[in-house]
Amino acid sequence: MAAKRDNFGSHFAAIMAMAGSAIGLGNIWRFPYVVGQNGGAAFIVVYLFSAVFLCIPIFLSEALIGKRTQLSTFGAMEALAPGRKWKWLGFLTVFTPLIILSYYSVVGGWSLEYLLKALSFSFTSADVTQEGLSADFSGFISSTWAPLFFHTVFMLINAFVLMAGVKGGIEKFTKITTPLLFVLVVVIMAYSMSLPGAGAGISYLLKPDFTKLTPYSVLSAMGQAFFSLSLGVGCILTYGSYLKKDSDLLTTGLSTSLFDLCFALIAGFAIMPAVFAAGIEPGAGPGLIFETLPFIFSKMGAGMPVVSGIIAIIFFITIVFAALTSSISMLETGVAYLVDQKHLARGKAIAILFTGCWALGVLCCLSFGPMADVKILGLTVFDLCDKMTANFLMTFGSLLFTLFVGWRMKKSDVYDEFTNGGSLRTSVKVFGFVYFLIKFVAPVVIGVIFITTLVM
Ligand code: PFF
Repeated sequence: MAAKRDNFGSHFAAIMAMAGSAIGLGNIWRFPYVVGQNGGAAFIVVYLFSAVFLCIPIFLSEALIGKRTQLSTFGAMEALAPGRKWKWLGFLTVFTPLIILSYYSVVGGWSLEYLLKALSFSFTSADVTQEGLSADFSGFISSTWAPLFFHTVFMLINAFVLMAGVKGGIEKFTKITTPLLFVLVVVIMAYSMSLPGAGAGISYLLKPDFTKLTPYSVLSAMGQAFFSLSLGVGCILTYGSYLKKDSDLLTTGLSTSLFDLCFALIAGFAIMPAVFAAGIEPGAGPGLIFETLPFIFSKMGAGMPVVSGIIAIIFFITIVFAALTSSISMLETGVAYLVDQKHLARGKAIAILFTGCWALGVLCCLSFGPMADVKILGLTVFDLCDKMTANFLMTFGSLLFTLFVGWRMKKSDVYDEFTNGGSLRTSVKVFGFVYFLIKFVAPVVIGVIFITTLVM
C-alpha cells in the first residue's frame, strides 16, 4: 500500500499547480513562433478547436484516473487494470516527462542566462544589432561551460522546490508564481500593443487566412495544444492524484485549459505586435525570444532605455518562472512513482531522478556545441528528445489514456468519479457529451494524428 500522500490544500491551489504545469515555455517560447511560422490567426483557430474537443477530454481522462486511484501513473494503471499490460503505459509516462525535462531544462538554463543579461541592462544599448544578438545567442548555446552551468542551476531549483513536498513546495510555489505570470505577461502585452506599428501584429493574430493552412500546420496546431496542456505524459494524472476526493474535475479541467489558452493568447499579443512594430519577420523560429526580442527591446530603448530595460527584465522573469512551474511537474511525475511504488524517501527519489535528468540534459546541452555532430537517426540528442516526446510519445500517451477511460473503465465508474457520485449538477448534465468526446472523438482524431505523424 502507498504511504499517506499529500493533497493539494484547496481547489484554487490545485488549479494553480495544474495551470502552472500547463503554462510554460510552450506558451511563451514555442506558441508565438509556431503561430508565426504557420500563418497567424488561422492556426490559432485550429489550436482553439483542438484545445476544446481534444485536449479537454484527454485532460479529464488523465486527471480522472489520478483522482480515482490517488496513485501515480504506474500504480494507478495497475490498480484500475490489475495484471494487465496497461501498467506499461503508466511506466512509459514515468519516463516521458523526465526526457522532456532533460531538454526543457537546457532552454530553462538559457532563459536564466538571458535574465541575467537583462538584469545588467545588456539589451538597451543603442548599438545592439540583430546580427550581433544572433551571433551572441549561437555563441552562447554552442559553448561548453556556460549553458551547462545554467542547466545545472535550473535543475537544482527544481529539486529544491520539490524537496519541500507537494503542499510545502509545489503548492506554495505555484500559488504565487502562476498568478504572477499573468500579471507580468499582461504588462508586457500592454507595452507591446502601445508601440507604434503594433496594429499590424494585432491584425495578424486576429484575421484568419485559411488559405495559409497546410495539413502540416493543422498537425502542428494540435501538437502544440497537447504540449501546452502537458498531456499524455502522466503529469496531469499525477497532479490529479493530489486532488481531494470531493474535487470537481470539470471545473478543474476547464479552468486549467482556459488559463493555459488565455496565457498563450496573451503571450502572442505580447510578442507579435512588438515583432511587427520592429518590422521583423514573424516566422523567425525558435530563436524568436532570444534573438529577436532582445533586438526589439534595444530598438525601443533608443528613446526610453530604462523602460525597455525593465520590460526585458519582466519578460525574462516571466519565462524563467513559466519554465519552472512546468518543469517541477515533470520531475514530480517520476518522484511520485518512486515514492508510491518503490517506497523511496522523497529526498532519495529526487536525488536519483535529478542525476539522471541532469546527465541526459548535459548531452542535450552539448548537442549545440561539442556534440553537434553526434546524430542518432539523423538528429542531435536535443532534437531526438524533443521530437520523440513532443511528436510521438505525447500523442501516443494521450491516445491510450482516452482509450483506457473510454473503453477499459466501466462507464459507471467514470460517471461516479466525474460527478462525485452524481452530486455535481453541471457535471451530471454534461457527462454524456464529455463521455462521447472521450470514447469516440478524441481517440479517432488522435489516432489519425498519430498515424499521420508517423508517416510524414
Ligand atoms: N506544458 C508545458 C509548456 O507548455 O511549456 C510543457 C510540458 C509540461 C510538457 C509538462 C510536458 C509535461 F509533462
